[in-house]
Amino acid sequence: MPTPPRLRDRGGERRRHPPERVTRERVVGKGTRIDAMPEEKIDRLIEEKKIVICAGSGGVGKTTTSAAVGVEAAIRGKRVLVLTIDPARRLANSLGLSEIGNEETPIPAERFEAVGIAPKGELSIMMLDMKRTFDHLIEQFAPNAEVREKIFANDVYQYISGALHGSHEYMAMEKLYEIHARKDYDLLVLDTPPTRHALDFLEAPKRLTDFLEGRVVQWILRPYLAAGRKGFKIFQKGTAKLFGILENVTGVQLLQDVAEFLLSFRDLFDGFKERAEAVDGILRGEETTFLLITSPQRAALAEARFFYKRLVASDMPFGAFIVNRVHPPCANFSEIYMRITDFLTTARENGMPLAHRLPPSISPQCFQTLIEKTLFSFEQSYNLATIDLEMIEELRNFAGREAVVRTVPIFDADVHDIRGLTEINRFIFGEGGESSPSPQVPPAGGSAG
Ligand SMILES: Nc1ncnc2c1ncn2[C@@H]1O[C@H](COP(=O)(O)OP(=O)(O)O)[C@@H](O)[C@H]1O
Ligand SMILES: [Mg+2]
Repeated sequence: MPTPPRLRDRGGERRRHPPERVTRERVVGKGTRIDAMPEEKIDRLIEEKKIVICAGSGGVGKTTTSAAVGVEAAIRGKRVLVLTIDPARRLANSLGLSEIGNEETPIPAERFEAVGIAPKGELSIMMLDMKRTFDHLIEQFAPNAEVREKIFANDVYQYISGALHGSHEYMAMEKLYEIHARKDYDLLVLDTPPTRHALDFLEAPKRLTDFLEGRVVQWILRPYLAAGRKGFKIFQKGTAKLFGILENVTGVQLLQDVAEFLLSFRDLFDGFKERAEAVDGILRGEETTFLLITSPQRAALAEARFFYKRLVASDMPFGAFIVNRVHPPCANFSEIYMRITDFLTTARENGMPLAHRLPPSISPQCFQTLIEKTLFSFEQSYNLATIDLEMIEELRNFAGREAVVRTVPIFDADVHDIRGLTEINRFIFGEGGESSPSPQVPPAGGSAG
């Protein structure tokens, strides 16, 4: 019978060396530890601000964070509205949002009570339907029904309101402005659209006005403007030929539509411009704060840093970095690692100690391979966690020690309900996110915690 393994035996030559990244120093966190930040700082954001904007590149957790912040604020007694965009279906369902569109929908208290929470405030959620927001805007600014109908019927409007680059971002801001002005809520949390570049969103108001003032638009409108307001007919005659030629050459049938659309649109233009300026004012205001959401991946972090610089440069209020989906480190990695490698070494020399307990279908070699593979993946997850910690540390160094950086671990399952969101909040608002996330992370929606 093989000798049982002596786990405590740390015979120097026999011990396999741990992988390069692994040193005890790293494990205890020298140089990579995330400092605790003053808790009040992040609390103050939702206590004192009226608008929280969650920005970041696609897929990092903006929608999830927006919903989580909304839940936290409602629990603390705020009347809060989350303006969200494309929430994952399961999250929408579990909040009861499956049926609604552009309406502000209160989340019934029972949804909280079902998971053992009694909110002191109220949470409402609204899904931003960009097309309808745009329509609403036209309704508001069109000088009369004729212009309005003309715009609605226009193919170009259909295209622009649905798909034009930037119109989504602009409409999100519009809605924010409109609801903010009504003062029905203590706090508005704005989720931002899944843009390729997070910055698109900040530049949306300016882009729309730039577009309208741009050379192409001016060129298309020039004949009309030269003929004066009453010259629409002349314009039609005079340019119809040109447009006809262009359409033949380019195969584009839309130029006439474009011109007509822009002409109708000009009547709204002053209203739009004023609005864009007002929205810009809100973004810079004392009542607003930006949460920059990122993953610990290099590309997302670069985007977050870029956004941060842009906020600082344009004097907009930065609130905190939320680093989401962080691989949680294992606190006593080195020790576990050493013990297992000792075990494997002993097993290799003396035979697999548990061989007599294995069912006949599993050979000792098969078992050993399994343990080695498991060890390898343990090592990998350790390395991922270590890289994440280094990335977060880099972010801290970049932003300065005063900046709030919170970390949220990657959960085993999607975050899809109020319970899951409160788990996230343990890390954003509680002690969890101050240092490295705990290795014992319960799956989202699970009951532990
Ligand atoms: N910490 C996390 N752990 C596990 N899954 C997460 C975490 N944060 C977000 N998710 C999931 O990742 C997906 C993308 O998140 P989402 O908030 O929709 O990102 P974004 O709005 O930035 O595109 C969702 O399915 C969400 O449930
Ligand atoms: Mg989203």
